[in-house]
Amino acid sequence: MVYQGVIERYRKYLPVNKNTPVVTLYEGNTPLLPADNLKKYLQKNLNLNLNLNLYFKCEGFNPTGSFKDRGMTVAVSKAKEEKAEAVLCASTGNTAASAAAYAAKAGIKCIVLVPSGKVALGKLSQALIYGAKVIAIDGNFDQALKLAREICEKNSQPKADPPRVEITLVNSINPYRIEGQKTAAFEIIDVLGKAPDYQFMPVGNAGNITAYWKGYTEYRNFKFQISNYKLEKKKNLQSAICNLQLPKMMGFQAEGAAPIVKGYPINKPKTIATAIRIGNPASWEGAVKARDESGGVIDTISDKEIIQAYKLLASTEGLFVEPASAASVAGLIKYIKKGFFSSLVTRRSLLVIVCILTGHGLKDPKQAIKISLKPKIVSAKLNSVLKEIGI
Ligand code: F0G
Repeated sequence: MVYQGVIERYRKYLPVNKNTPVVTLYEGNTPLLPADNLKKYLQKNLNLNLNLNLYFKCEGFNPTGSFKDRGMTVAVSKAKEEKAEAVLCASTGNTAASAAAYAAKAGIKCIVLVPSGKVALGKLSQALIYGAKVIAIDGNFDQALKLAREICEKNSQPKADPPRVEITLVNSINPYRIEGQKTAAFEIIDVLGKAPDYQFMPVGNAGNITAYWKGYTEYRNFKFQISNYKLEKKKNLQSAICNLQLPKMMGFQAEGAAPIVKGYPINKPKTIATAIRIGNPASWEGAVKARDESGGVIDTISDKEIIQAYKLLASTEGLFVEPASAASVAGLIKYIKKGFFSSLVTRRSLLVIVCILTGHGLKDPKQAIKISLKPKIVSAKLNSVLKEIGI
């Protein structure tokens, strides 16, 4: 059957029923790409001598260019089922783009609150062209989210003034968003046949790390029930043990926007990775739970390290991601340099690592141009062009 998006693919694990109108742009089913060139680079330049299978989960291949579409298909479908007139979100850009697209498809209004001047050009252009009402807040993402919550709370009161319009908040505090986003973990297990040993990913508002952890644990439990059933029948102990494994969640926040690492909210978060420029994550507890239950870490990465990984991904793998997405690879490089994996060499034969690449590079073209050599202008003559090529 033709692929029809994450709701149809994983319907039995999602809070939908036969009356839910499925609003989909056929999101999900994104490639899990072997990172062979990056692996060679790490072996050569960082003396990495692990028996390693390294993969990228390319979430920028989703319909609006980021992982947000997985959660938005569920959130907007449920909003439509519940007869919402509009959806609302605060966003550093990708949630806004995704909400706007799915609302357009659903035929409902969309309002987005974004931090003025801090949203990458591609994301802003998406929200506008999909027809959302875009409001630029003279403040940061955390302030925009606070306002979005207030608007939706006020509106849900029966005697609201002005009169009540059904507005649904579609930030990741909406549980349907987390439900949809957990399907990325399902896909990884479906491709690998098991969960990876480590998963590296950026952390901003912390919904995604929360969703992945939920996905891995739920899918593991489900598969474990099946394998237990098989175990009784076949006495196949090996398959039962294999299905017990869960990944260690390795989350990375930008140094200037690292509230979870520091242990307190940051009033003025700063980073070039605007997607994760967040000082008080809504899913803070979920991220801590994912870290602690998995035995992983949440750590910082500097803007310089993010940009290095950003360039490396493009130049070695042909993968153009947005700066925030490169935080996963920057985190991996930081941990290899720290010797984090050295002690594992003797213990394990093969290590499987997945880096989540959350958003497409074309979201933020200014950043790519800013750090690259500008094209030289030459006259329209064959000799001049050959001279510039150096032939
Ligand atoms: N990567 C990208 C490309 C993002 O857009 C975001 C978050 C993250 C990583 C972090 O994910 O918030 O679930 O921890 N973007 C949100 C937005 C905040 O409004 O688009 P998270």
